Amino acid sequence: MRKVAVSTLTPGMFVERAGEGSFSSPNRVYRWMLTEPEDIAAIAADGYGEVWVDESRSLPDIVNLSPELARSVGVYVQTLGYIRRFMDSVRGGGQVQWPEVGPIVDQVVGDVLAGEKRLKSLAKLRRYDEYTYSHCVNVGVFSVVFGRSMGASPEELTLLCAAGLLHDAGKARIPLEILNKPGKLSDPEMAQMRRHAELGQEVLGLSPEIPEGVVRAASEHHERYDGSGYPLGRRAGQIATISTIISLCDVYDAMTSNRVYQSGRTPHEVLAKMYGWKGKDFHPELVLRFIRCMGIYPEGTVIRLSDGRVAVIRANNPKNLLGPTVAALQLDNGVWRRQEVIDLSVQAGLTIKSVEDSEALGVDGLGFLAEDGS
Ligand SMILES: [Fe+2]
Repeated sequence: MRKVAVSTLTPGMFVERAGEGSFSSPNRVYRWMLTEPEDIAAIAADGYGEVWVDESRSLPDIVNLSPELARSVGVYVQTLGYIRRFMDSVRGGGQVQWPEVGPIVDQVVGDVLAGEKRLKSLAKLRRYDEYTYSHCVNVGVFSVVFGRSMGASPEELTLLCAAGLLHDAGKARIPLEILNKPGKLSDPEMAQMRRHAELGQEVLGLSPEIPEGVVRAASEHHERYDGSGYPLGRRAGQIATISTIISLCDVYDAMTSNRVYQSGRTPHEVLAKMYGWKGKDFHPELVLRFIRCMGIYPEGTVIRLSDGRVAVIRANNPKNLLGPTVAALQLDNGVWRRQEVIDLSVQAGLTIKSVEDSEALGVDGLGFLAEDGS
């Protein structure tokens, strides 16, 4: 946590709180990521000159990034800001304005097509805002990445992205005390929370120009392959493919997330669990494709090699998921630096020993990705 002058705040920073706990400067918890200049103006209008910024939940500072990664950070920030605005508007009785969704979707799809690793890694490596909002952005990003890996057309990618961004629109109709409850939900609360699937269909159905596939994904993303899901208990052939894709991205992001009552599992653990649910929760072929697309060890994951060195996955090898290219690191005066790049698929005797906790080690996996644009 770092104290920052309000005059130097920029979109992408996660503001935790402000104030000194005194009469003239009372404490105030913000706990949100700045997405537009107006957010900064609002903090200044509250009368604070300095705030505490949580760097572990902020997007990387674009000053130190390549132009490509800086652009992806900008796309993420704008998309998050859009999700927050539409959820607030629906909560206040408004409806989703389809013409506003288009430019956001185009930006996300365009950025993934220009180099999917960047936005995908941003979505994977940290949690930037209230779960509900960043989850929607992440599912939007993953659905484009996954769709692309299956050869979806540009029109299909647009549809998938919109479905991912809007899949939890019904949560805007769930009381905030249930939505943001810091702990496990009781049975009646859970029953109410589950209504977000039907409510999503209702909310999106108010805007006739929203494509049917997007509405179906909102209503069906908790249905499961064997009929054990909700709200209708539909099974395999009755669930639209778009809903199945969104459900894979949804479960993956939800399970890897740090929540108040759950610390996120590693992507590796989650993919292994999802594999175990094939034929039960998920279409067997689709879950395999999903794992292949996300990579057993997703890019940016911090790992330990069998020779004891810490390394970061730079690029997956589709032909050999256990043999990605990694950047081996060394600690140099408290700063992690790249020592060498190793292709594990051709390096006999060197293997991945374990997945490490990047935060505990202080390694920013994103900084060591290959910048080859794919
Ligand atoms: Fe959901």
